[in-house]
Amino acid sequence: MKVIAIANQKGGVGKTTVTMQLGAALSRRHRVLVVDVDRQQSTVWWAENLHERLPFDFAGSQNPKALTGLRELRVEYDFVLVDTPGALDDTPVLESVLDAADYVVVPLTPEPLAVEPTMRTISRLIEPRRLRHAVLLNRIDARIPSQLHTWQDLLDTTWGVPRFDAYLRQYKTQSDAPILGQLVTNLRDNRRTAGTIADVTRVGIEMAAQAIPTLAGRW
Ligand SMILES: Nc1ncnc2c1ncn2[C@@H]1O[C@H](COP(=O)(O)OP(=O)(O)OP(=O)(O)O)[C@@H](O)[C@H]1O
Ligand SMILES: [Mg+2]
Repeated sequence: MKVIAIANQKGGVGKTTVTMQLGAALSRRHRVLVVDVDRQQSTVWWAENLHERLPFDFAGSQNPKALTGLRELRVEYDFVLVDTPGALDDTPVLESVLDAADYVVVPLTPEPLAVEPTMRTISRLIEPRRLRHAVLLNRIDARIPSQLHTWQDLLDTTWGVPRFDAYLRQYKTQSDAPILGQLVTNLRDNRRTAGTIADVTRVGIEMAAQAIPTLAGRW
């Protein structure tokens, strides 16, 4: 079982979006539990809007301390994804999650103001715990040709932090998903949704291979 924290002390970079969509993508091949320790409880609202069963087990409103008991659960999960708060006030909650995590996904939107809080999250909270981690670029605008490569290059050379090769583009399908109760597993595959489905699927494959190296190539 791998506990994956989705974390960034910068608000609004896509932690909840990544948790829910990645949970759905991974649930196609793996046993997945999604846990929410953010008092905003965005995943709970999203889950309530779903008209069908969630494709993963779900524990909204969890005390982060409960995570330490996860390894004694009778249900064996391949992945436990934890959505964490973005507010600095909630740093102790985030720290408890990181203490229990095996791997951290750090979503980042291509905005200059997001950089400093992201790098601070990595250098102050993630690196001191020697946790494996990777930045996931989110809300990439396909209409700006150089944006993806500029940001990948900044991560690789200027900031020197590990990143996913996969990334998520900005789509209305993504921003509408919480209110429509949609996940990649229940989206009808058409021209409007294909980009979102492809992006999230790629992230799921890379995440599984990163967290469990023996899974590489066995998706
Ligand atoms: N790839 C995307 N395309 C379009 N909209 C997106 C995308 N990713 C996230 N969003 C939208 O951006 C907003 C912020 O995303 P989200 O709530 O997932 O961020 P967060 O990091 O969980 O925020 P918080 O720190 O407040 O918990 C939401 O309205 C969400 O729908
Ligand atoms: Mg959130």
